[in-house]
Amino acid sequence: MDYQNKTAFITAGASGMGKRFAEQVVERGGNVVIADVDMAAANRLASELGGLAVECNVRSTEQVDAARDAALERFGNVDIVMSHAGITKASPIVNLTDDDWTVMFDLNVIGMARVLRAFIPHLTERGSGHVIMTTSSLALIPGHPLGPLTAHYIASKAAVIGLAQVTALALAPHDIGVTLFSPDLTKTNFGTPPPGVERPKGVMALERQTPEQAVDVLLDALDNGRFLASATPDYERLLAKQAAVLLDPLAFADEYPAPPSAAPAAETAAETTAATPEHAPATPTPAPQTQGA
Ligand SMILES: NC(=O)c1ccc[n+]([C@@H]2O[C@H](COP(=O)([O-])OP(=O)(O)OC[C@H]3O[C@@H](n4cnc5c(N)ncnc54)[C@H](O)[C@@H]3O)[C@@H](O)[C@H]2O)c1
Repeated sequence: MDYQNKTAFITAGASGMGKRFAEQVVERGGNVVIADVDMAAANRLASELGGLAVECNVRSTEQVDAARDAALERFGNVDIVMSHAGITKASPIVNLTDDDWTVMFDLNVIGMARVLRAFIPHLTERGSGHVIMTTSSLALIPGHPLGPLTAHYIASKAAVIGLAQVTALALAPHDIGVTLFSPDLTKTNFGTPPPGVERPKGVMALERQTPEQAVDVLLDALDNGRFLASATPDYERLLAKQAAVLLDPLAFADEYPAPPSAAPAAETAAETTAATPEHAPATPTPAPQTQGA
């Protein structure tokens, strides 16, 4: 992909993989708009990279539209839209309230719809551009030990897969590409509990990639025109296995170590996430050392 003088609008751009992608765009000669709710971090990064920081809670149509307007005013065009914002919260499925489900889908799925709605007219009018939408390895490949404790997160990220496929079909006639970015568990602030709450043991062991590694996979997919940018090792075999077993998740039990004992893990997770603000991704539950994700 040619980044020279191109502008990338990145939701959740102030931290983790969004930040890493922003740095890479600038290194390759592009401009960046850091669209985030953490304005201290967004302003810091934008001034470092010579970009623009805009307040953009993807739960607000007004803020998304205003962020787009600010981006267009500053740079004239937006060429790359990275819809990366998402949250998680670990809790057993029976403890998830209507509000938990509503917040998760409003941010992780409808948040992406708001960003698409804001930018598609601009992209189609110009007949060029690229959209990146972030799902998760937990939704792409079934059977992860964290799965039963992140039901609404996985359901929302599965919805993102469908949304990205439909968007790719809708935008292809306009010469606008779509890439589905599927990070594996990655060492970022995702899953960091609020101040005063200890991070459960075991989670760190599951985070087996760095933002650099994950974003390298994304950059490679963008360079080579691949729809799927999956950072999960062995993802091609795992996707082929899903087809072979007709999506049966139970066939994936042998891909991972045994899950943690349910009761203590569930309690810790629920307590850990109770005080977590919606824009600060909550902590996953304790989990065993694992090779797969
Ligand atoms: N880190 C992982 O293990 C992992 C794995 C798979 C997928 N993901 C996906 O990556 C994204 C999280 O990003 P990360 O892990 O690269 O970094 P991160 O968790 O370090 O940063 C997330 C950023 O999102 C911002 N944010 C939170 N709520 C927002 C909102 N409502 N609107 C706009 N911005 C908001 C935060 O301020 C923060 O800057 C999510 O979509 C998540 O599903 C992460």
